[in-house]
Amino acid sequence: MRSKFSLVFLASFLLVSCSSGKKASQEKPAENQSSVTGVMREFYTDLKKLEPYLSSQKRFDAKANQVPIQTALRHMADVSKSSLDQHMLKLPGFRASREVLQEHLVGTAQAFEGGNKEYARWMAKSTYGICMTCHVQMNWQSSLSTQEKSESFDSKFEKAEWLYLTREFKGAYNLFAEVIVSYPKNTNHEQLESALNRNLAIVARNRQDPEQGVEDFTKILKNRKLPPPLRKSIEAWIGEFQAWKNQEYCKNQSDFIEAKCLYDRAQAFATEDLDRQAVVYLRLSGIIYKRLNEDLPSEQTQSLLLWLATCDRHLKENLLYPLSEMYLKECIVKDPKTSVAKACYKELEDAIVVSFSGSLGTNIPPDVKAQLKRYKSLIETSKKK
Ligand code: HEC
Repeated sequence: MRSKFSLVFLASFLLVSCSSGKKASQEKPAENQSSVTGVMREFYTDLKKLEPYLSSQKRFDAKANQVPIQTALRHMADVSKSSLDQHMLKLPGFRASREVLQEHLVGTAQAFEGGNKEYARWMAKSTYGICMTCHVQMNWQSSLSTQEKSESFDSKFEKAEWLYLTREFKGAYNLFAEVIVSYPKNTNHEQLESALNRNLAIVARNRQDPEQGVEDFTKILKNRKLPPPLRKSIEAWIGEFQAWKNQEYCKNQSDFIEAKCLYDRAQAFATEDLDRQAVVYLRLSGIIYKRLNEDLPSEQTQSLLLWLATCDRHLKENLLYPLSEMYLKECIVKDPKTSVAKACYKELEDAIVVSFSGSLGTNIPPDVKAQLKRYKSLIETSKKK
């Protein structure tokens, strides 16, 4: 189910992204541009209004709820079209997410308006995932005061997810920890697994704090009821945090060199070491996010984009949204004549082939093929110059 959706999405997204460059330049600039924070708060308010309907298809479908749902979805779509055109959101780290969010919100509103409510609800719920692709790039604490956060959540887990979404990472971390501790009494297996992964991401990527990682996950292991496979993963995470803490590798280097070193380390892990590898990719993505929006020589930015695409693909957090492909495209367009651009093209081609391969062989839609060809010729023509 999920992979089918993701394929459909990938296909439609690739199609959409072919034409989005043109569309953007035709659109007139938003009048009265508000600040990034202002736009974000509008999204937040709309999603908050939608929350009660998203948790049940019945409520989502009810005629009586048609107007408030439609109003919120339409408003988000309109805001995304008119107000995301801000410098900060065009930086290399954010651009891919921004475009995905725009298409996604417009598509969600259209699905609802067209009466395709099941799909619309599924889309609306997955909006969170896109919001997060930007927010994980930022610091540990949001400026939103806790007072503004509503208290209407069905469970601790839901509240923690909400805090994570709005990048209140500190509050989210503490609540996820409570969720983890209360397994199996008040937490089910699925919530446990998500909460563990969220806190791993927060501590390894956002906080970059191996000591906290060792300490917290060691404490978690004391719960004898933990399912054995999860226990094994946690032990592997602790092992990697320990090595990181003891500076057994990639130490005392500038961020760019450190990133290169971590990338090489992650790539060298054997397939049975995926848990340790995840810690390295999380740490690496944190370093990349920090640097990506700075003014680096373009070849360095391209390398960061290439590595980030790899992190994104391996961490599988954004399964539904092929952000890694967006990063690769950005890498190519940035300066097609470099050797990094060539490597990015190679990755892009591989990723697309894989995503359109099935038991019946590889079947890449013509539009996607044509798009790939365009990127290839970009590289080839710039080489000749
Ligand atoms: C393209 C990147 C991007 C996407 C996508 C994105 N955000 Fe944000 N968001 C930001 C940035 C950047 C900030 C920090 C702004 C600042 O502090 O100046 C932020 C901050 C926020 C804040 C805190 C605002 C405050 O008052 O401090 C909220 C709430 C928020 N976003 C909600 C959302 C929601 C909900 C979504 C999804 C519908 C979303 N964001 C999607 C980039 C993004």
